[in-house]
Amino acid sequence: MSGKSIILAIETSCDETAVAIAEGTDRILVSEVASQIDLHSPYGGVVPELASRNHNITLRPLVDVALKEAGLKMSDIDAIAATSGPGLASSLLIGDTTAKAIAVAAQKPFLSINHMEGHLLSPFIGDPQGVRPNLSLVVSGGHTMIVKVDSVASYDVLGTTLDDAAGEAFDKAGKMMGLPYPGGPEIDRRSEHGDPTAFDFPRAMLKSGDYQFSFSGLKTAVSHRIAGLGERWDENDDDLLNDLCASFQAAVVEVLVGKTIAAARAHHASLITVSGGVSCNRGLRTAMKSAADKIGVELLLATPGHSTDNAAMIAYAAACRLESGISSSSLDRDINPNLRLV
Ligand code: KG4
Ligand code: ZN
Repeated sequence: MSGKSIILAIETSCDETAVAIAEGTDRILVSEVASQIDLHSPYGGVVPELASRNHNITLRPLVDVALKEAGLKMSDIDAIAATSGPGLASSLLIGDTTAKAIAVAAQKPFLSINHMEGHLLSPFIGDPQGVRPNLSLVVSGGHTMIVKVDSVASYDVLGTTLDDAAGEAFDKAGKMMGLPYPGGPEIDRRSEHGDPTAFDFPRAMLKSGDYQFSFSGLKTAVSHRIAGLGERWDENDDDLLNDLCASFQAAVVEVLVGKTIAAARAHHASLITVSGGVSCNRGLRTAMKSAADKIGVELLLATPGHSTDNAAMIAYAAACRLESGISSSSLDRDINPNLRLV
């Protein structure tokens, strides 16, 4: 061990119950994620009551699994961190309360972490150089943001979405096409076999000259195209579905890449980072890489395991804060479902 703080982190902001243990910013010792996708899938989206009940059942045993896997006892832990927002109130409460209870019982410091800061810093997990100034695209089920990062806790949000988040757009489009929940990974998979030029979908706000996004028009366009197919629409027609998916994905990716590259140029960034569940998307990863290469800017993508919700990113953000001299949080600090990054 390096002598750095051992941090136990809990993430329950939405439908993943996750626990991780980190050795400062050096190493993630263990990262456990208990997914609830099968539980929510019959409903086509997350059911908050089911999510919180399941966190309640799963979380405490998962903490023991993580400790055992890391070969540690609770007394070896130096600090406890939990996601305090943004997210579903009833889900956040389970993780936040459990973490505070552990911190009080073990008499260790508690750190309340912003889920979006977790995503934002996640591309640096395992990077020996640590967090460096960068221009960041964060794309998840709940958020789409372009952020200028100067250092840990010094962020400037340059743009967000005016309506749906990128992941939300993927999931809603998937639902319209009759694809299993969540739509994002399924659209990604099908896009590999489809023609991205088969349907001409709008690239909303691509030329708006700012860093704002809007995906609701694209969602409507998908709905209209499906309706326009009339009798030719067939949920079991793989070729048609693959073309729809590839065309939809191409539209989202072009806007995400276009805006990120424009922001990187305007702010003279030497590093672009991409994180959040949608950063798993293979089309986005490939397109961002070639666009970054073209302007000679380094690109750091969160690994797929650190892209969708996980507690490793919460442990890492907590470690970054501790190592930057930002002190622990008060136990009185409540969860905030609408917590902002800055
Ligand atoms: O970061 P995340 O796990 O949760 C939130 O903080 O929201 O992101 C989940 C989102 C979902 O909308 C999901 O469909 C999307 O990430 N997603 C993807 C892919 N994998 C996950 N979207 C597109 N392509 C993927 N491969
Ligand atoms: Zn997330």
